[in-house]
Amino acid sequence: MNDAEFEPSLGDALLDRAIVPGYSRVGIALRRRTWPADDPAPAALRGGRAVVTGANSGIGLAIADGLAALGASTVLAVRNPRRGDEAVAELRRRHPEASITAVECDVSEPDSIRRCAATLGDAPIDVLIHNAGVLPPRRRENSAGHELSYATHVLGPLLLTELIRPLLAAAHGAKVLLMSSGGMYAQPLAVDDPEYRKGEYKGARAYARTKRMQVALTPALAAELADDRIGVHAVHPGWVDTPGIADALPRFRRLVRPLLRTPAEGADTAVWLAATARPLPTGRFWHDRRVRPLHVRSSTRYSEADVAALWRRCRASIGAPDTA
Ligand SMILES: NC(=O)c1ccc[n+]([C@@H]2O[C@H](COP(=O)([O-])OP(=O)(O)OC[C@H]3O[C@@H](n4cnc5c(N)ncnc54)[C@H](OP(=O)(O)O)[C@@H]3O)[C@@H](O)[C@H]2O)c1
Repeated sequence: MNDAEFEPSLGDALLDRAIVPGYSRVGIALRRRTWPADDPAPAALRGGRAVVTGANSGIGLAIADGLAALGASTVLAVRNPRRGDEAVAELRRRHPEASITAVECDVSEPDSIRRCAATLGDAPIDVLIHNAGVLPPRRRENSAGHELSYATHVLGPLLLTELIRPLLAAAHGAKVLLMSSGGMYAQPLAVDDPEYRKGEYKGARAYARTKRMQVALTPALAAELADDRIGVHAVHPGWVDTPGIADALPRFRRLVRPLLRTPAEGADTAVWLAATARPLPTGRFWHDRRVRPLHVRSSTRYSEADVAALWRRCRASIGAPDTA
């Protein structure tokens, strides 16, 4: 598999280095000009099954919409059944021919994840998108004592993936996506304090630290799942106007609102990764259909030993065997 065909052009890379043009609607508008021939075929996912977490609003809802439009039997994994039912009804109106269902899944809670995995039954799963995200205003823990953003963005996705691995393997070429954030570029790997017990807690930092962990662990998860032909891809959506942004970052939203992407634009790369027939390199970090660097400043660099230590710790926390 050749990474070179997914490298951004110099102009594309410079858009991201300048941040605002790359992450905003400007970036996707410019890059889109080169995409038409690369869009997935109209029924690219027909016959396949996709699961999207946090799919009742924002980018997750737009991803579910995009997958259903391409023919996937789409399962919305949501923590609030009422909001899940409303999202299902909205998507069924738009795609009356598609199979769209919801399953309850609080991805920050191991018991809920276990129930969700059991509910998913034994039919193969072709696409699993870990989209659910939080930016907690103050430090909170889940019922197992894990800090909430770490539980939601890192441990929950690893546990759900582990539990439904046989269903992913049965799809013979499944894809697992982790919805990270460009905010992770500002943070090193908090390998000594993933639970954010030290120092003053800042929700935005906890968020970005755990988004960094998602990206750092993506190659490790890709290596772990490679024997089952499961590809793993981290992705960031750019800046997107969603209920999450309005709630967690109202000042940021007010400042940049005219530049924010629509949820469908934020969902584009995830849907493309899920549906493209092109062979993809596994374990990479994507944005606007191109592989992106893991670092933009040297202060965030980490070693393979750091990643292995975090991987082992996470595996232990979810009760999975040590494979580092
Ligand atoms: N918007 C952006 O600019 C942006 C930028 C970078 C990355 N992202 C990432 O994109 C993803 C989607 O964000 P968004 O902007 O669309 O936010 P959003 O509108 O707040 O949507 C987040 C979704 O995650 C769900 N969720 C939160 N915690 C959950 C849990 N424990 N279990 C199950 N579902 C849970 C929410 O459910 P409820 O409705 O029940 O709360 C909601 O459906 C997140 O991972 C976010 O970090 C967004």
